[in-house]
Formats: sequence, structure tokens, C-alpha cells
Amino acid sequence: MVCRVAASKSARTFRVNDQIFQNRIARKKIWMSKPKLFITRRWPRSVEELAKEDFDVTLNEMDIPLSVEEMRHALKNYDAISPTVTDILSAQAFDIENISCKILCNYGVGYSHIDLPSAQKHEICVTNTPDVLSDCTADIAMTLMLMAARRAGEGERELRANKWHGWRPTHMIGTKVTAKTLGIIGFGRIGQAMASRCHFGFGMKINIYSRSKVSDELLKKYNAKQFSTVEALLSKSDFVSLHCPGGTNNRHLINASNLAEARPGLILINTARGEVIDEAALANALENNVVKAAGLDVFDGEPKINPVLMSAPNLVMLPHLGSATKETREEMGFRALENCKAFFQGETPLDKVA
Ligand code: DGY
Repeated sequence: MVCRVAASKSARTFRVNDQIFQNRIARKKIWMSKPKLFITRRWPRSVEELAKEDFDVTLNEMDIPLSVEEMRHALKNYDAISPTVTDILSAQAFDIENISCKILCNYGVGYSHIDLPSAQKHEICVTNTPDVLSDCTADIAMTLMLMAARRAGEGERELRANKWHGWRPTHMIGTKVTAKTLGIIGFGRIGQAMASRCHFGFGMKINIYSRSKVSDELLKKYNAKQFSTVEALLSKSDFVSLHCPGGTNNRHLINASNLAEARPGLILINTARGEVIDEAALANALENNVVKAAGLDVFDGEPKINPVLMSAPNLVMLPHLGSATKETREEMGFRALENCKAFFQGETPLDKVA
């Protein structure tokens, strides 16, 4: 009996290994004849040119987001697709026969727009582009934090509307940032880049909320304290900056009930994903001064902006600029291409997420 189980186990292992081997050979065959790569949005020219060296590239010349039907067409007709946050690769998009696509090398670190179980069901590898955008995304979070605290958006609007009547001691008084307490939700690479700027640059105390335990080494580095609930973090922080993934697990992680626990004068910053905040609850909290000010780079259902946010004066909004520097947008493309190349060369891509 034991022998038979062992024999059937080793036969299965052999079949799985054989399948992996066959897949590798198939990928290498595609590599020899230049894989067909569809890039769903325009990239910096230098990276598009580089892509053409190794891939048979099709660009979305119009540079507008794809419909579900267009995405399905791409899934059926290309060996590889490089999507972005504007592409909705929901379960519905994958619900088709004869998918040719073998890898989705996402251009971006966040991949909550891709339904991973569906990709896995079709044996499609998924990669992202971490590391290369951490600094610039943290820089945008800093920009928003300083703008919201020092009322920079309001100030510029006043000046451009010719409503500024000159300096006076009580004009547009904001909130001091230096030496205050920053709560960080999500302590991956971007959260850590934010902690570094705020702790070492602005002398801020760092609080952290993260579902997994942050190592003692990291806590020591930033002299930080980890909290076990969002409520506790909100109640003990002057500023809170979001750096967690989006998707269903974190939808409305910030909501009316935990905003009610916020420390008076809280300033909230979001450069993660729009759905992490219940925007109606935030607008209400801003209106009632439960939250003093906020800075948002991302929006639920962007590029549409919830009208309740539009009229809030103590809110600074940017059009998803986190990674928008020449250097970073190029690096993101290079990283997506490296992942795609590695895959077709029969290797495991560096940034494989599924
Ligand atoms: C990212 O990399 O996730 C940015 O938000 C753009 O998608």
C-alpha cells in the first residue's frame, strides 16, 4: 500500500515536472520567434524602442483605456500583455476560450485591477514593477502632506483668483509638520520610504498599522510603534498616510466608523488606491472638521471624481501622479520588460506575483 502511494506520488511529481518542462520549452520556442507583446498604454519612447528589440510589439496608438471586449481580443491574440492600472482585467474579461496570453507583465506595482484567480486558472503568469517607484510615490505623499498641512492648494487658488490682499499675521494659518506623529498604513517599500523621509527629514514620530508583524529591526530603525487596529492608529496620529494595496480586502479600510476615532486635527493622505477610503465618509468628516484636511492622489472609480470631494476646500487632489517622473516611468517599463524576457527565456521572473 505504502509503496503504491509512493509510486503514484512520484508519478504525479513526474507529470507535474514534465508539464513545467514542456511549458518552459514552449516559452523558449516563442522566444526564438519574438513573442507578440501588446502594450496597453503608451510608454516613454526609449522603453517602447527597447521593447521592439526583443518583442513583436503592438502599441495602443490611441492611448485610451481598453474595453472588456478589446482586452479579451488581446488575451486571445498576444503571447504577452503589459497592462496598467487603467485596464480592468476582471473575472469577466478572462471568461473566454482560447487564451494565448501567457504573461501579464503589469506596468505598475499595484495589481488589484487583475483578477489573480482567473489569471491562475488560465495559467497566466502575473508580474509587477516594485522598488523602482517607491521613492517617487513617497515624494508625492510628502507633497500632499505638506500641501494639505500648509494649505498650499487653497493659497494658490486664492492668488490665481486675484483674491489675495497681502500678508497678515492671521492669513491662511495651517498645521506644523515637523516633529508631529505620522501614522503609516501598510509598511512595504513605499511605506518605508515615507517613514524615512518623515522620521529622518522632519523629525516625526512613526506609528504603523500593518496586518503582518513589522520586524523589530525596522521598528527600531524608525523608532516606530506598531498598532493592531486602524482605529488605534487614527486616534494616536496627527497625520495618516496610506501605503497598502487596494482591492476587495482593503476596500473602505478608512470609513465613517474609524474616522470617528481620529485624533482632532487629523490630516489624511492617500497615494495607495482610491477604494481604500470611503470617499463619502471622508467628505463628511472634512465638512464636519473631524478630519482637518486631506490629500488624495488616487480615487475610487478614477478618473471620475466623486462630486462630494470636488467642493471640499480643505482637500488637495492630484491626478494619480505618484510614479510620474521621467526616471521612474522609464524604470517601470524596463522592469516590466525584464520580467517578460525572463519568462520567455524559461526563467522565473523577478517580480512574479502569481
Ligand atoms: C502603481 O504602480 O501601482 C501606480 O499606482 C500606477 O499604477
